[in-house]
Order: sequence, then structure tokens, then C-alpha cells
Amino acid sequence: MTKRAILTSALPYANGEIHLGHVASTYLPADVTARHLRQRGVEAYYVCATDDYGTPILIQSEREGKTPAEYVAGWNTRDAEDFESLGMRFDAFSSTSSEACGEFVRGVYERLREAGHIYEKEVVQPYCARDAMFLPDRYVHGTCPHCGADDQYSDLCESCGKVPDRILGPKCAICGETPENRTTTHHFFALSHFAGRLREWLEGADGMQMDVRRYVLGWIAQGLSDWDITRDITWGVRIPGDEGRVFYGWFDNHLAYISATLGMLDGRGIDAKGFWNSADIYHFIGKDIVYHHYLFLPAVRMGLGGEFKLPDRMPVRGHLTLAGKKISKSRGHYISIRDFLSRYPADYLRFYLLLVTPYSQDDLNFDWDDFALRINKELVGNIGNFVNRALSFAHRSFDGHVPAPGPESGEDAAARGRIGALAGEVGALVDEGHLDRALKGILAFSAHFNQYFQHCEPWKGGDGAATCVHLSANAVRSLAIALCAFVPSSAQRMWEQLGEAGSVEAQPWEAASEVRIGAGHAIGRPSALFARVDEGEIAGLKESLGGASG
Ligand code: MF3
Ligand code: ZN
Repeated sequence: MTKRAILTSALPYANGEIHLGHVASTYLPADVTARHLRQRGVEAYYVCATDDYGTPILIQSEREGKTPAEYVAGWNTRDAEDFESLGMRFDAFSSTSSEACGEFVRGVYERLREAGHIYEKEVVQPYCARDAMFLPDRYVHGTCPHCGADDQYSDLCESCGKVPDRILGPKCAICGETPENRTTTHHFFALSHFAGRLREWLEGADGMQMDVRRYVLGWIAQGLSDWDITRDITWGVRIPGDEGRVFYGWFDNHLAYISATLGMLDGRGIDAKGFWNSADIYHFIGKDIVYHHYLFLPAVRMGLGGEFKLPDRMPVRGHLTLAGKKISKSRGHYISIRDFLSRYPADYLRFYLLLVTPYSQDDLNFDWDDFALRINKELVGNIGNFVNRALSFAHRSFDGHVPAPGPESGEDAAARGRIGALAGEVGALVDEGHLDRALKGILAFSAHFNQYFQHCEPWKGGDGAATCVHLSANAVRSLAIALCAFVPSSAQRMWEQLGEAGSVEAQPWEAASEVRIGAGHAIGRPSALFARVDEGEIAGLKESLGGASG
């Protein structure tokens, strides 16, 4: 394992609240992975930014009577707060409209141009005579030329995932008129130059999911179109030598992964480029932006001649549905992080979403009843119950101290064996990207100890009581270490109740499999870690926050 890592998650557009859909597929998996890597002794940095440019943001800021810069600054602050309240720990949270990102993008453009990967070409662009403007991207909708899906924007077909090069039956998104065609000169990035290299790279990209690689290879085989990277608007990174116009948002945004990381590392006095090129690079994304990340992003990096290392892993996860239906902000069918966290602790949301989100492109569903069930059964009934039982019993019956173990029965030996195997088993699943299975592995460990404690009946005071309490206290320690990437504040509370000093996340991962707590260790003050989710309250939240089915 490389001892350095850089992790990013897809940059949220600076035009709306962070909601459950964003965090399940992208931000939480990246945060857990970053925290886990640090436990493994990896110097890991987790970097994000808001994605500030693009036509929808311009349209929205105009509607609200703000300058685009004011508008995105407001969302940048707000998003950072929401992420923080969910325990997301970024080492940098930048913005694509920062001066540094813009300079970096212009530099990249110049070098791609020198290397012959940028050219100019006359294009026929939709132009709306009524609105007196060219209509880039979302300003036009129509039928996808690839799959025939109706009502798609010209920059991305939500049905087949491709980028339509010319949408059929175009309509102006502002006024509904059919645009006329006007000729203008645009810059193109020659994605087609990279088809061979992209294919070779993907064939050997063992850190990426197999099915994703397979269908991206299919896209390459069908032929890649060059990318029109010019936009006839003023909100964006200014194109050098063409100051009236700006780059397409997908030209600049992924470059902020690099520029924001370099800025953060520079600020810490680290050799930034050296670090980037010797680190494992992870970009976490949702399945709607595979095309951009698996083709455009590596091609631009290849065009820079290896100055910045290509990604090692780009974990792709599916969309979150809410009560079985697609999330829609315009129809109010979504739950914001802020609303959710006004009712339940961050760890409840982290726990539930991590448990139900597979490492695959399958969609996953948020369901209020299922949320209540899993929290009550697993977090409260399994983990909370075991920790509280074990610690309270030690507190009451052994005067707040962990007793010295006696001779071990077969059951005791099996329990000790579970502790010994935990770090290896769970760690392997996290390495593979299967965070849901890793969490289930920890739940199985806790369930085992619940049963063990029940069978030993230490309250009857037999010979085995001391051994059982001794091993159970150690199992609580293992649980706190194993859980701390998933539910960090609860794990820290477990740690403190156990009477351990400092911060649980400073423990090395392997310590989850040690039996370290010795006889005489003074435990802290046990109290309930989690409270049950009330089913009656859930019924009310379905109405007030959204997510009722039907
Ligand atoms: N803002 C884009 C989206 O939400 C994601 C950009 S990720 C980037 O779809 F890396 F390309 F910036
Ligand atoms: Zn399509």
C-alpha cells in the first residue's frame, strides 16, 4: 500500500442545498475511506470545492438578482457548513471560481494548445433571436441523437449517459422558441487523439470497477467526439486570447481537483507536485458523470505529458432514490442535510447511508421506515446494547475496573479469535471499496459479542464472569477503533466511556485486533450511546421533510 493518498469527491454545483443524494454516493464513501487510510498510517488528504461555473448557475443568479460571484460565494460557505455538520473532514474546500483555479486552467489550456491538442473550428451554434444570445448546454433541450430519449439537455443525456453532440428538435430553454443556427468559432479539445491511450490505460486500470471499465471501453470503441470547450457567456474561466468568452465548465472543474490540492499542500510546506505524483489518487463520483471522469479527465492529464499522475481509483456509485422515486429538487422531492440533521445526529445518517450503499452502480433507496428499523435494530439494539451492557456490568460488579481474566472456555477462545480477526477482515473489505460490507462485518462482530455476553451470564457470578467481562471490554475497544471512520463521534464517546484517553482515531488500525486492556483498567462512566428512533415521529417527518411514498 502506498503511504500517500489524495481523495476527492465530485464537486457540488454551487446552486443548491446539499442533500441525501449527494452524500450517499460520493461524499460519505470518500470521507470514510480517507479516515480509514489515516488509521492505516497513510498520509491522506481529502479535497473538495464548489463547482461554480456553468449556465444553470448563471441563470439562477440572474433570477435572484445577484452577481454570479456573490451567488456562488454564498453556496460555498453554506455547503462547507453542511458538510462539516455531517462530520465530513476536508483538508481543503476550495472553489472553481478562485483566482488560483482559473490561473491553473489557463496554464493547462496553453500547454494543451502547444502540444497540438486544441484547435479552432467554425461551429453552427443555436442562437435565440428572441433572447439575443447563443444558447450553450442547458439553454437548449431536445431529443438525444444517441438513444432517442426526449426532453434532454444538450450537455448530457440522462437516459443513456452520453453527451449528445447535436441534439434533435432543439428548443430554447428560456423562451421555448426554436433557435436559429449561427456560425461562430469555437475551441475544441481533441479527445479523439487519446482513444488508443485511454483504451490501454483502462485495460490495465485494476483499481477501477470492472463493469465501469467495460462500458467506457465500449464508448471508446464506438468512437470519441472532440469536445467543444468554448462557451459564449461571460461567467467562467476566461479563454486566453479570446477574452470575451469562457471555457466550458467541464473543461475547468476537474482541474480544480489538482489546483486545490496543490494549493493546500503548498500551504503546508509540502512539495505538492512530488506528493501528487507519488500518491494514490482517488476520485469518488456518482454514475451520471462517468463519461467526464473516465474519458475527459484522463485525456486532459495525458495531454499534459504526464505532469500529473492519472487516477488510481474512481469509485462509482448509483443514485439515491427517496421512497422509491427519483430525487427531484424542483418538485421538492428531496431531503436536505440541514433538515435531516435538525432531527437526528449525523452518525445516524452516516450509519444508515453507509449500510445501504453498495460499491456498485445500482441505485439505492432512502426509506424512512427502513431508516428507523436499521437504527433501532443495529445501532441501538446491537452496538449500543452490547457496549452499554458490557461497560455497565463492569462498572457495577467490578467496581469500575476491568477484572483479570480467568481460565478460558471454548467460547472465550472463540471470542478472542473474533477480536484477532476483526482488523484483517474489515480492512480487506474497505480496501476493496465495499464499505457497506465492512460495516456489516463490524455489526456481525458486535452481534457475536452480544450473544457471547448473554451465554456467559456473568451476572450469575460463576468462574467465567471475569474472563467474559475482560474480553467484552476489549471488544468494546475493538468496536470503537473499527467504527471510528464510519461514525466518528459515537466511536469517540465509546472510547471515553471505556476510560481510554485521547482520540480513538489516533489508534492504528491493527489495534482493533489487539487485546490491550489489562486487569485493573478503570473504565469511564457508561451511558446510553444511542436513542431509539420513534416510529410516530417518522410518520410526521415523511410529511414535513419529504419521502412519503405514493
Ligand atoms: N458539479 C458536477 C456535478 O455535480 C461534478 C463536477 S466533478 C468535477 O455533476 F470534478 F468534474 F469537478
Ligand atoms: Zn441519450
